[in-house]
Amino acid sequence: MTESIVEKATKIAKEFELPEGFVKKAVDVFIKQADESLEKQTLRGLPMIPSYVSGIPKGTEKGVFLAIDLGGTNFRVCSVTLNGDSTFDIIQSKKPIPDSLMKSTSAEFISHLGDRIQEFIETHCCDTMQHEGGSDILKMGYTFSFPVNQTSINRGTLIRWTKGYDIKDMVGKDIVIVLQEELDRRNLPIHIAVLLNDTVGTLMSRAYTKPETSGGQTLIGCIFGTGTNGAYSEKVRKIKKFTGETTEKIMVINTEWGSFDNDLTILPNTKYDKQVNINSPNPDFHLFEKRVSGMYLGELLRLCMADLGFQSEEIANPWSFDTMVPSVIDGDEDPKLEKTGKMLAEYVGLSTTSLEERKAVRILSKAIGRRSAHLSAIPCAGLILHTKALEKFPSLDIGGDGSVIEFYPNFQKMMHEALAEALGKEGDSKITIGIAKDGSGVGAALCAYFA
Ligand code: BGC
Repeated sequence: MTESIVEKATKIAKEFELPEGFVKKAVDVFIKQADESLEKQTLRGLPMIPSYVSGIPKGTEKGVFLAIDLGGTNFRVCSVTLNGDSTFDIIQSKKPIPDSLMKSTSAEFISHLGDRIQEFIETHCCDTMQHEGGSDILKMGYTFSFPVNQTSINRGTLIRWTKGYDIKDMVGKDIVIVLQEELDRRNLPIHIAVLLNDTVGTLMSRAYTKPETSGGQTLIGCIFGTGTNGAYSEKVRKIKKFTGETTEKIMVINTEWGSFDNDLTILPNTKYDKQVNINSPNPDFHLFEKRVSGMYLGELLRLCMADLGFQSEEIANPWSFDTMVPSVIDGDEDPKLEKTGKMLAEYVGLSTTSLEERKAVRILSKAIGRRSAHLSAIPCAGLILHTKALEKFPSLDIGGDGSVIEFYPNFQKMMHEALAEALGKEGDSKITIGIAKDGSGVGAALCAYFA
């Protein structure tokens, strides 16, 4: 008898299942790789980048700050008012970076950022914005969501691009200097006072909006969006490779956990994962990210659907599926799977589908989503164990941001399932995950406050 499409999909879905005991083992591998990288940097290891950020907010910080935030999809320019009572107000201009610019030259790209900043300043600049020590120069925080070898609080060279970017002549350059030169050329009275990763911003903003006194200790700031990554506070004496100057006792580390297990010692590697890696702009790097984050979940589904024999222009076209496709289908609980049918018709070019076909696609989406959420718990559990935080604090908090953690159906619930596997039910029950909305913009303002 020939296999039905649902049976075929179930077989593929099995390839996305993590074996019994996998999460615990992978957490051990994560801790080992993190320890090694705090000691010595290697090209393919976890970056574990010292951020030069040492102050963690209390929620009482005040002021109006200019901030910019370059992410995987959007560029935001904002004015953030920290009200000093754990609340903030934000005025922002948020627009996607055009696809063509993501693969352009540094001159074109930086000039685009300059245009956007200039436009914002001309419309929204106000007297209350924080200036550099009594001068006319505005102090700005710069959130840059890619791996940077940070050499001071406002200096850092681009290690490599991730997500959809590939502007070759920017790799190795100091990303603050190139933008500062552009701002100076335009005579804009702005000084880039801090450079930070979006996860560092998320950690800061979660600590600001949820101060220690009103709940668990905020331990991790993380992003599960187009890309994935996390930051946490580390004792400076444990960062053996750190050669910079500081008198502080702790420093936030940008782990760049998207690069966990780049050598695939433990991560699953289905034929679909291999294909995604080959087709990506950064082959053989950020392999954890390629199994977890939004940029890749749609692509994994597209490849699985092509394997099942589905045909359309979109299915033939790499990277044509947004995460919204598996996300909406995964969340479709209606017996007729009407939302799934609509999604397949509108975004996948399959104008009519049978119920069996829709069921098959849902099985695949659920398998891809569940694996992503379960893998996501690994670095979080790893950092919790590495810092011995469960022994130190009665409860712990993880601040997260990004479309996947915020909108993918049951993502946080599935993360908790895997956290329970790694830390035990009791350990997991002490952990809360909260969304740090606008974390990277607010975090940039908070870092500018401390700078
Ligand atoms: C980047 C990180 C960033 C993460 C989330 C990854 O691709 O390498 O720097 O924090 O995406 O935006």
